[in-house]
Amino acid sequence: MPWGYNEQQAYHVLFVGFMGSGKSTVARRMAQLFSRRCIDLDRLIARRAGMDIPTIFQKEGEQGFRDRETAALESLFLETSSIVSCGGGITIRERNQQLLKRLGTVIYLKVDADEAVSRISRPETRPLLSGDVPPREILQARAASYESVADICFDTAGKSIDEVVNTLGELLWKKGIL
Ligand code: S3P
Repeated sequence: MPWGYNEQQAYHVLFVGFMGSGKSTVARRMAQLFSRRCIDLDRLIARRAGMDIPTIFQKEGEQGFRDRETAALESLFLETSSIVSCGGGITIRERNQQLLKRLGTVIYLKVDADEAVSRISRPETRPLLSGDVPPREILQARAASYESVADICFDTAGKSIDEVVNTLGELLWKKGIL
């Protein structure tokens, strides 16, 4: 089926990393710069569920949210090539790690927990930040999974959004990815 969608046709640039690492802003700016569509996976999940993220956690628990997250990720094979911002817990599931690798180029925006938390303007929108596990421990538990899915690890420590967007944009352009 030459004009049908298949897995090979979707080739996205996907941002992963901890809450507050700048994924959503960087993805949006990068999409504007390169005239690509931007998909914010959390927004997609919320739109499909008809509930915001804290309400999904409240009504369905974290597992319910994670199931919706995996379904949203799977649906990206049907979308035109886009720049995608993923939620900070996307790499927890091994299934998601496999999907991410097949969906395109994965970029890990690296940041330490203190800097990440200080960048989050509305912490009440992140249910995990009000849980029992401190952000530093959550990040520690996830760091290896971010690195294992990433084609590019980009350290954002002390960098402005402009610096991240310009440097990464140039890198992806030179590699022929954007
Ligand atoms: C989560 C991060 C959030 C959102 C949800 C769970 C996580 O996305 O997906 O609250 O597990 O780290 P952001 O990384 O965009 O804040």
